[in-house]
Amino acid sequence: MTFQEKIRQALQEKEVPFDKAIRSLNIRSKELEPYIKQPQGRLEYGRNVIYRNQEVEVIVVYLPPFAKTLVHDHGFSKGEVHIVQGSLLNLIYNKDLSVNKIESYQAEEFFHVEGDTIHLMFNPTPFEVISFHVYSPPLTHNQTYPAEGRG
Ligand SMILES: [Fe+2]
Repeated sequence: MTFQEKIRQALQEKEVPFDKAIRSLNIRSKELEPYIKQPQGRLEYGRNVIYRNQEVEVIVVYLPPFAKTLVHDHGFSKGEVHIVQGSLLNLIYNKDLSVNKIESYQAEEFFHVEGDTIHLMFNPTPFEVISFHVYSPPLTHNQTYPAEGRG
């Protein structure tokens, strides 16, 4: 069974809630190695869509040491994020782009985002961070916001 087949199988179990299904995958950093994408263009992080169907979109995010994502929302999708390797800070913004709160997550932890969750993920460590993201429905109308917001 390929990695993609394993993902498809786990996520199509209708009786299993989304977040439980993602936890049941028990993703390991070794499995994600082939899917690590280096940062490109102005992005400080690598982002690789590894699976997508009508219901879900699965993305592997690679944050090199001290890198951060853009400030962004998730359109109409909810998502589960699994920190597979390393530790990161999750900065959550208000609608006016002021920082609402800062959360800290380490390997083996998960967090949830809603479509209107505006956030940024930052790797404050000298070690690589790999995270595994599952969105439902697939991302559309998700947008990024200028710079790091306003404070
Ligand atoms: Fe996000």
